[in-house]
Amino acid sequence: MTPSDPPSIAPELSGPDAVLSRHVLGHYPTGVAVITGMEGDEPIGMSMNSFTSVSLHPALVLFCPANSSGTWPRLRAAGQLAINVLSAGQESVSRLFATRDADRFAGFDWTPAANGAPLLLDALGWLECQVQAEYPAGDHSVVIAEIERMGVHGDIAEPLVFFRGAYYAGLNRALEVDEREIT
Ligand SMILES: Cc1cc2nc3c(=O)[nH]c(=O)nc-3n(C[C@H](O)[C@H](O)[C@H](O)COP(=O)(O)O)c2cc1C
Repeated sequence: MTPSDPPSIAPELSGPDAVLSRHVLGHYPTGVAVITGMEGDEPIGMSMNSFTSVSLHPALVLFCPANSSGTWPRLRAAGQLAINVLSAGQESVSRLFATRDADRFAGFDWTPAANGAPLLLDALGWLECQVQAEYPAGDHSVVIAEIERMGVHGDIAEPLVFFRGAYYAGLNRALEVDEREIT
């Protein structure tokens, strides 16, 4: 193999195929966030694992709603949003907030954040934010949001993890890493 040769991959796994993309990208573990807002008096929200941090100064995050989402245009219109980071016991919450035509907040405990957006009970932490920009990106868009306030619920330590299409409750083992080394 010369330096210009492409890396070896199984022939059936080549090509820009949506099923393959989902499969391969699913090998990158993520948490799960529920992004919420208010539509008048009605709380609305949807599950997303495309949430990630972007910038510290200013404090920016991003997430990627699908063009097919019915909830995202309503959240965009709501303006004031909360990103709820789900904890290990909230697999059912992740599923609920991804289910079309479900009454997602029925019987569900939440409190309003300072910006009015719903904070989900038992989440690991939350970020209150406002959309700063939205860029079209294929069948999704990339939304940049500016964080206004945020916090963690100190007594809930474990995250809900999404990996290869399955949920994992928490992290088995923490490696010895000094947080100050992570930039
Ligand atoms: C773990 C998980 C992660 C998801 N991540 C995203 C995402 O990043 N972007 C997105 O548009 N939808 C994502 N979804 C799917 C949406 O939650 C779902 O399509 C949406 O809630 C459907 O309802 P709607 O049409 O009312 O928006 C995810 C679902 C799950 C369960």
